[in-house]
Amino acid sequence: MLQKLYDKYVCPHLIDFFMQTKAFMKQREKIIPFASGRVLEIGIGSGLNFQFYDKTKVNEVFAVEPDEVLYRKAKESASKNNLKLNIKQIKAEELPFDENSFDTVISTYTMCSISGLNSAMKEINRVMKPDSLLLFSEHGKSPDKNILNWQKRLNGIQKRIAGGCHLDVDIPNEIKKADFKIEAISSMYAPGPKFLNYHYWGQATPSK
Ligand SMILES: C[S@@+](CC[C@H](N)C(=O)[O-])C[C@H]1O[C@@H](n2cnc3c(N)ncnc32)[C@H](O)[C@@H]1O
Repeated sequence: MLQKLYDKYVCPHLIDFFMQTKAFMKQREKIIPFASGRVLEIGIGSGLNFQFYDKTKVNEVFAVEPDEVLYRKAKESASKNNLKLNIKQIKAEELPFDENSFDTVISTYTMCSISGLNSAMKEINRVMKPDSLLLFSEHGKSPDKNILNWQKRLNGIQKRIAGGCHLDVDIPNEIKKADFKIEAISSMYAPGPKFLNYHYWGQATPSK
């Protein structure tokens, strides 16, 4: 009961607050300007990527976001950024889009929260055009054993306080497992607690 109230009324606002911290915003700036054509954002949150879009290259923006508060915030942000957003309040595990229909799919700090991650990644692959780009920036599994052990210990509490977020997702492996070819990837600790701040970012293409 308490968890449900927390998830509904508190958690989305906390997510929105933490997703705006400097380290996360800097990472967005590194990948979002590559978006072009017909774009789909997965678990868009409150729409924090909009400010980094190159609007001369982006034609249409679609998004999915299951959380009601974040869904509404994303709509507001789109209108503030003069962006026409086609957003659905659904999860990414089943996408109501045709095969081969997007030029770019964006996932920023969403893979950690998707419970059926492999299904969602396969769905993303399905809706992407053969020569399209998956742009990602995610936090995940630390390469340091000591930090990874902490990630495993803290996973339980993190899931409860941060909307189902897992700390130790093996991001490159999850991308490859869903038939993507990673074209570019970088990783590093961003400033902040190490268990939360091992970031992976880059580009992948669907193998079709
Ligand atoms: C940490 S937030 C990141 C939000 C946003 N992408 C950003 O960069 O600010 C994780 C997001 O994933 C969304 N999410 C959780 N489960 C999901 C699912 N199954 N499919 C799609 N999005 C999901 C959450 O509602 C939340 O908006």
